[in-house]
Amino acid sequence: MVERFTLLTSGKITFGAGAAESVGNEAAALGRKAFIVADRHFRERGGAAEMVQNSCAKAGVEPIMFDSPPAGEPDLDTVERARHALGSARCDVAIALGGGSILDTAKAAAGLAREAGHVREYFDGRPVGSAGIPFIAMPTTAGSGAEATVNAVLSDPSRQIKQSIRDNRFLARVILADPRLTLSCPPRTTADSGMDALAQAIESFTSLGANPMTDALAFEAAQLILHSLVPAYRDGQNLDARSDMLLGSLMAGIALTNARLGAIHGLAHPLGIRWHIPHGRICAILLAPVMRFNESVAGAKYARLSDLAGENIIGHVERLRDMLDIPADLKEYHITADEVEWVVKESLPSGSLKMNPRPARAEDLRAILAPLV
Ligand SMILES: [Fe+2]
Repeated sequence: MVERFTLLTSGKITFGAGAAESVGNEAAALGRKAFIVADRHFRERGGAAEMVQNSCAKAGVEPIMFDSPPAGEPDLDTVERARHALGSARCDVAIALGGGSILDTAKAAAGLAREAGHVREYFDGRPVGSAGIPFIAMPTTAGSGAEATVNAVLSDPSRQIKQSIRDNRFLARVILADPRLTLSCPPRTTADSGMDALAQAIESFTSLGANPMTDALAFEAAQLILHSLVPAYRDGQNLDARSDMLLGSLMAGIALTNARLGAIHGLAHPLGIRWHIPHGRICAILLAPVMRFNESVAGAKYARLSDLAGENIIGHVERLRDMLDIPADLKEYHITADEVEWVVKESLPSGSLKMNPRPARAEDLRAILAPLV
């Protein structure tokens, strides 16, 4: 008999080419004034951000554009600024157009819209007391899966901490996943964020929190990503490959927010904040070593993934990393033995690490990192 489980998803998901154009009507069903957080890349004249504004205006929703979206990963100050901007303009719906950083900025600002405290307090563990304003997610990379998750990954550079604020009410009310929005994603980001999506599919597939629904989503996500990542990297205009990547990363996002992740994501946050390594690149480098560590307990699921890949999945993941021109280790960052200890110490309390299928202690993390640094 299947053990009891719960699955949380967004209220509505529209997937496919052209899905983005319904944003105005979706916003009109939720409010009258929309706070828009858009990636700089889409804010040039005639870009997708202008389409979002026009679509809102046409549907009778006043668009208010956030003028300082994060250039890199979102920090607490940026989220606080966004929260104040949407509050002082009295916006009643938020729209995010961008990759994981943009989505998480808008998600946190919307989710904390009616809270009294500073975002730092919730980052430090204060529970979110009230529902925020509804949030519409329009991902432009494939991807973090952030359009589908209940958490916003934020960083506090002053304390070198990267962690999540999490509340089930943070789920996007509507996801508009339009593969055309991903056509302009540059090859480097396509490769890195695609390997993040693959790592998320594989970690949620083998997580201690996996259930039959997340298994179905994670397995299908892995299949889509394994077959479409290299084609999307080599030809960014390949809409079929872009579509499969976006669908795969969305499915992995739903899987991970319910099943949680594993040791790759436990280690990735301290490495990312201290050495400024793109998150997807760290995931790509850690994927095979962590899979090798987990193989003794996750062998049956890895066998299913090997069937998909047509060869041993761990070897395949390494080949994929090479084809995407991602290095095999972290040596270029010159991480010292003392710094490895810091990474291990910072990783141990991580929620992701606790869901790794094989318990990972400090000495295990040290052994995973040793050949990589
Ligand atoms: Fe990730």
